[in-house]
Amino acid sequence: MVGDVVGRPGRKVILNDLANIKKECNADFVIANLENASAGKGVTEQNLKQLLTAPIDVVTMGNHTFHQKETVNYISKYPMMLRPLNYPSEVPGKAFTVKEHKGTRIGVLNISGQAYMPDMDSPFQLTDNVIDQLNKECDILIIDFHGEATGEKQAYANCYDGRASAIVGTHTHVQTADNRVLPNGTAYITDVGMTGPQDSVIGTEKEIIIKKLRTKIPQRYRVELKYPYQFNGVLIDIDEKTGKAREIKRIFKEYENTVLEGKYKTD
Ligand SMILES: [Fe+2]
Ligand SMILES: [Fe+2]
Repeated sequence: MVGDVVGRPGRKVILNDLANIKKECNADFVIANLENASAGKGVTEQNLKQLLTAPIDVVTMGNHTFHQKETVNYISKYPMMLRPLNYPSEVPGKAFTVKEHKGTRIGVLNISGQAYMPDMDSPFQLTDNVIDQLNKECDILIIDFHGEATGEKQAYANCYDGRASAIVGTHTHVQTADNRVLPNGTAYITDVGMTGPQDSVIGTEKEIIIKKLRTKIPQRYRVELKYPYQFNGVLIDIDEKTGKAREIKRIFKEYENTVLEGKYKTD
């Protein structure tokens, strides 16, 4: 699972290095959160098509899903592209997909939290309504929980521990160090982190954010384009027979001057 891909720096990392990272990790299946891939907000169809030339099996989104106006028109053309389940049912796109890999049906669900997020229906209520059915449709269920509050993410993950193979948080753009397998076999991390520019405030030029917070005057945000860049992700090992997770490891890589000279670390 790849943490929120931000702007041109994030796209550059994905396009130049995701195939290498996949190989280094010996990963079978890649999910990437692309909610910030185009100028930090949403993803254009052109950028999506380009990013799908990298080994991405399923795309998840979040509160910025429809920030690029064209997304509402193209999202239904891409069965591997998800948006949070919390949207009203008439909204285009879907929140769940199943892809078969080496005979295993891998299901991915995208859902949003409520705490400090745009007005959204309860993720608990929504998950209660669908989780048994989703588990019938796949052997492995991975949930991208897009939320701000650590407590809400932990509560959600513990609520569905044992009913999903993995529940991973996205949205904060800061990787947490609490990756572990919960008591009933669900791999969990509060936030996968961000793939994008490191010397920034969650991907944006830091001076702009500082000015906004100091003065309260609205500012036009710009993605930081300067190096260093970073890759943030997690590698989850799941027993395909039981659907239970064995391990979840953090992956982080830094690129000083060029994406091709990244330093690779894992915990
Ligand atoms: Fe994000
Ligand atoms: Fe977000």
